[in-house]
Amino acid sequence: MVQASAAMATVHLAGCASSAATTSAPAQTAVAATVEQPPSLQPVTLHVNGKRHRIEVDTRTTVLDALRENLGLKGSKKGCDHGQCGACTVLIEGRRTNACLSLAVMHDGDEITTIEGLGTPDKLHAMQASFLKHDGFQCGYCTSGQICSSVGMLAEVKMGMPSHVTPDLNAPGPLTDEEIRERMSGNLCRCSAYPNIVASIRQVATGQGGQA
Ligand code: FES
Ligand code: FES
Repeated sequence: MVQASAAMATVHLAGCASSAATTSAPAQTAVAATVEQPPSLQPVTLHVNGKRHRIEVDTRTTVLDALRENLGLKGSKKGCDHGQCGACTVLIEGRRTNACLSLAVMHDGDEITTIEGLGTPDKLHAMQASFLKHDGFQCGYCTSGQICSSVGMLAEVKMGMPSHVTPDLNAPGPLTDEEIRERMSGNLCRCSAYPNIVASIRQVATGQGGQA
């Protein structure tokens, strides 16, 4: 009886294997056909740092790759390429956005501000100057994302948008260090320059400066 069951199981497994063998060939063909599809190109207009750019991109191109590879703006950094580190943060229509998670073709006609558009070496944006003053970076890889994100974050505060740690949703209070840390939690820093990043943002937010 046991032998009969074993035999039946063997036949059943063999049947599965043979069925898999018969179905795997078309599946492989389908995958191969997908890989061989030519890229789909589409024209897109991006207004970056006040300058209009008309480019043609593969529809799978992210905003980050369009900025870095098509337009040669290398200030926005690619860290994780998965929306987890914030190194690629830019402002799109004034809102902070992970450029690695957004497709260029989704932003046809949009205004984009990168770290290169916030200030110039001769005339730094207040947040850039504050990061310098408070030593808000070490290797600097996360810094352009941190600065773009903090500028977008302060605009959100100004609009009265609460955060996860805001105690009263109807009457947002002062921008405490806890608020700054929570609102900037999407921007990681491998060098752990967080205390000085918070001090940099606090100075711009309050105009008071001070070391963390
Ligand atoms: S590179 Fe975009 S979030 Fe990390
Ligand atoms: S300064 Fe090095 S990753 Fe932030």
